[in-house]
Amino acid sequence: MIEHFANLERTHYCGDLIATDTNKIVTVMGWVHKRRDLGGLIFIDLRDVKGICQIVVPPEHAEIFKKAEMVRNEYVIAVKGHVDMRAAANINKNMLTGEIEVVADELYILNDTLPLPIQINDMALAEEDLRLKYRYLDLRREKLRNILITRHKIVKAIREYLNERDFYDIETPILMKSTPEGARDYLVPSRVHPGKFYALPQSPQIFKQLLMIAGYDRYYQIARCFRDEDLRADRQPEFTQLDIELSFVTPEQIYELLEGLMAYLFKEVKGMDLPTPFTRLTYLEAMNRFGCDKPDLRFGMELVDLTEELATSEFQVFSSALSGKGVIKAIVIPQAASFSRKQLDELIDLAKHNGAKGLAFAKVGEGILEAGISKFITTDEVKSILNATQAKSGDLLAFAADSFEMSCKVLSAVRNEMARKLDLIPKNSFAFTWITDFPLFNWSPDHNRWEPAHHMFTLPMEEHIPWLDQPDKIGQINGQLYDLVCNGMELSSGSIRCHRYDIQKKIFDILGFEEDDLRDRFGFFLDALKYGTPPHGGIAPGIDRLVMIMTGAESIRDVIAFPKTLKATDLMTQAPSEVPNELWTELNLKPLK
Ligand code: AMO
Ligand code: AMP
Repeated sequence: MIEHFANLERTHYCGDLIATDTNKIVTVMGWVHKRRDLGGLIFIDLRDVKGICQIVVPPEHAEIFKKAEMVRNEYVIAVKGHVDMRAAANINKNMLTGEIEVVADELYILNDTLPLPIQINDMALAEEDLRLKYRYLDLRREKLRNILITRHKIVKAIREYLNERDFYDIETPILMKSTPEGARDYLVPSRVHPGKFYALPQSPQIFKQLLMIAGYDRYYQIARCFRDEDLRADRQPEFTQLDIELSFVTPEQIYELLEGLMAYLFKEVKGMDLPTPFTRLTYLEAMNRFGCDKPDLRFGMELVDLTEELATSEFQVFSSALSGKGVIKAIVIPQAASFSRKQLDELIDLAKHNGAKGLAFAKVGEGILEAGISKFITTDEVKSILNATQAKSGDLLAFAADSFEMSCKVLSAVRNEMARKLDLIPKNSFAFTWITDFPLFNWSPDHNRWEPAHHMFTLPMEEHIPWLDQPDKIGQINGQLYDLVCNGMELSSGSIRCHRYDIQKKIFDILGFEEDDLRDRFGFFLDALKYGTPPHGGIAPGIDRLVMIMTGAESIRDVIAFPKTLKATDLMTQAPSEVPNELWTELNLKPLK
């Protein structure tokens, strides 16, 4: 029954037909989204990339009516017919093409389909694993189609914005020497050089800096990055960055560039005015007030430090935290005094899951604290707690007593969870903020050494540069680092780079590189720094995360056409997969078994 395409030419997209097309003779082609037999009349919802239109097949036309009876969902058909206004009673306001229908004069079945393993319907979602296996069918869903088309619009607008501003789009290698961004490298064995490997770029960081040394002044690239790390809802092993680097630039200029870019994207793609400039928080302020360096500013519930108020507390949990140089922090969960034991236990579990020993509660009454740990708190302490937290009757107080980092981590998790559960997050709002003044190094107790907080090419704050020579000050050095955060997600990271060899060398020394290792890994780069390197800096927004934010997608897999699972596998192609023994030999690799 499948017919040849012959000379039939498509004249319109299904999704484009509107009232002003009435009476036109049109040919549309696409997939049968739905077919309804209404006693003698057949309606077909025909779908293409632009949307859906309704086809009517009247019974008079016996030959095409018979074909219409045969089509099933997802058959590919072509229909030639004329556009008719629907009778007022049949107008469908929920469809862009809902005022019209195409009355079929000709109908061709271009292809059929096997029974579908998943339905093409946003309402009847199959298990994600099955959808990933049949990704090409899942991508037919309206939701995913809208997201991928929006992604295209975002990337198009990014290019427009940067091209207008004298940026050059320059490609950098995929097969390269490892660039350190803190994750594990993906390695590619060299056939030609037995025992040697290329690394896939974790980002084009070193190359974009080399382009500045080469004098290209303003660079961007929509760059694929590869990182072998533990995956989460907003992480993929390969993802895309808008990689940007500029010479002779200040952080202020980078903030302005990115704020302008975001405003342009929201206007072009969503028709929304995004207020700029964005707010700014220092790293310390973000930690103190929100407990994390990527705070969601769409809602309040800020952390309150009660270390001073509870300095002499006799409650053992508090006093032992304080004697261990810890802090006591709290948040007010609005109108949550009525939480059940089970709800409180869930929060304690969340705290423990984040590494805390527990979470303490007290319910707020009229000028008093009740239940929970209230019996351990003196009247004076209650007064100062209520004063510091501004908690009101009916609220619930949650306390974390631990190291600064742990208290922050726990209450940040509680804050985000409660905002979600209590529905405190306004829909369709976008809270951008810059986070600045990050420390340059973090001490890693696991490795017993300093590690770069962002990456090792960042310039310290001008006034902290002398501290590179003072071992006791290393932890206090701030970098010229900035993150752009939106709705609790780290959207971009960037920094002003070391353009001086001597400073870069000191940083490598602090990070504990052995001379030989350093030469071997970064010798080419350290050498390049000695040949007239301009001051430079840059930033790299993650495009996948940007698309998540702009489309409201909850999973990063929804914004990537062919994503990988949390176990870094592609369920459709079955990558990674085994390869024939000859390939092992050819690549000079020894099979495991
Ligand atoms: P960084 O490593 O912070 O910086 O990455 C920049 C941005 O890339 C996105 N991102 C990811 N998105 C999806 N999956 C991942 N696994 C993933 N990892 C990172 C985030 C992040 O903010 N070379 C520097 C940038 C610079 O300094 O200019 C870099 O790569 O949105
Ligand atoms: P315990 O004395 O261990 O029974 O703890 C008394 C209460 O304090 C319980 O509700 C614990 O969940 C809570 N708690 C224990 N450790 C901490 C901590 N570090 N910070 C806040 N609350 C805690």
